[in-house]
Amino acid sequence: MKSALAFMAVLTTLTTCSCSNNSTTTMSTITVKKTEFGKMPDGTAVNVFTLTNAKGVEARIIEYGGILASLKVPDRNGAMGDVVLGHDTLPDYTSDNKTYFGALIGRYANRIGGATFTLNGTKYTLPANDNGNSLHGGPQGFDKKVWTGKELPDGVELTYKSADGEAGYPGTLTAVVSYHLTDANGLVIHYTATTDKDTVVNLTNHSYWNLKGDGDILGNLLTIPADRYTPVDAGLIPTGVLAPVDGTPFDFRKPTAVGARIAQDDPQLKLGHGYDHNWIVNRTGPGSVLAARVEETTSGRVMEVYTDQPGIQFYTGNFLDGTVKGKGGKSAQLHSALCLETQHYPDTPNKPDFPTATLKPGDKYDTTTEFRFSTK
Ligand code: GLA
Repeated sequence: MKSALAFMAVLTTLTTCSCSNNSTTTMSTITVKKTEFGKMPDGTAVNVFTLTNAKGVEARIIEYGGILASLKVPDRNGAMGDVVLGHDTLPDYTSDNKTYFGALIGRYANRIGGATFTLNGTKYTLPANDNGNSLHGGPQGFDKKVWTGKELPDGVELTYKSADGEAGYPGTLTAVVSYHLTDANGLVIHYTATTDKDTVVNLTNHSYWNLKGDGDILGNLLTIPADRYTPVDAGLIPTGVLAPVDGTPFDFRKPTAVGARIAQDDPQLKLGHGYDHNWIVNRTGPGSVLAARVEETTSGRVMEVYTDQPGIQFYTGNFLDGTVKGKGGKSAQLHSALCLETQHYPDTPNKPDFPTATLKPGDKYDTTTEFRFSTK
């Protein structure tokens, strides 16, 4: 409910504003500044939008991949710290084909089994980029595209038009994703998409969270108020079963350290090399609910994730192996961050029993996730 109210406040700000074309826009307490971040090899300018609220919370979003490049939030003593992994420069982002640091993921976030699906009797083949499966929209997904950014009074709106047939998907898909900063230290991500042919769509944000700003996340206290999750096969494709978390290391219904059970001799943890699974968001109807909460006890930082999506992927950075260097040249080590990707369940286009990810012409894909920060 709180989340719904916060989002309504965002909408109110939007509708009462007369947007300006200046590079700095100040409405209520949110400041939005646009500057150049870098240039693509073909000379295309990539801008960065810096959103700041009165409490000094600062989010930086770049047009390349719609990436959340940094997010500074206070610890319990008021000291600001960057809580997302990322890179310092555009070439570092464009040459990173491994992490998806902070990026908007599409056209279909997470995996599609066998890199193929059938829609209305037509079989579509996608580029396989993950053990014969399609991961995160393929090797040239939305995370690799330059989006067109526009300042909003409290954020930035990013648009990307994906051509019919791009990355194997049917239909021209126009995706419009906006990031909004709130006075209550929330970062709201509002995703919309429309199509001119039946297609599938699943958009998310792939931020790697480290609320301490350093070290690993194994001591983070995680709550996922979900009764069920989707167990996977060896390729991390859901088996189709919605399994109870009860009595398993997947039960995060009470705050539990991420690392408390990660090394247990559990077949699902072995397949994921840690946690890399989709939880089924507990809900009694449509609308935004709390899907996850992370508490980092040394800094006191707390992050809550609210979403209207059916699922949330919890990933413990199992493929970070020190080979990718992030900000300040620092290697991104195993478990140095965690991801909480709100989404449709993986492989939904091949799972008729999962909530549908099909989008039809005339319909609008419209979903909102908020990451809200506080301290304890
Ligand atoms: C998602 C996947 C992981 C991994 C990361 C990117 O979270 O579920 O398996 O591919 O993206 O490295």
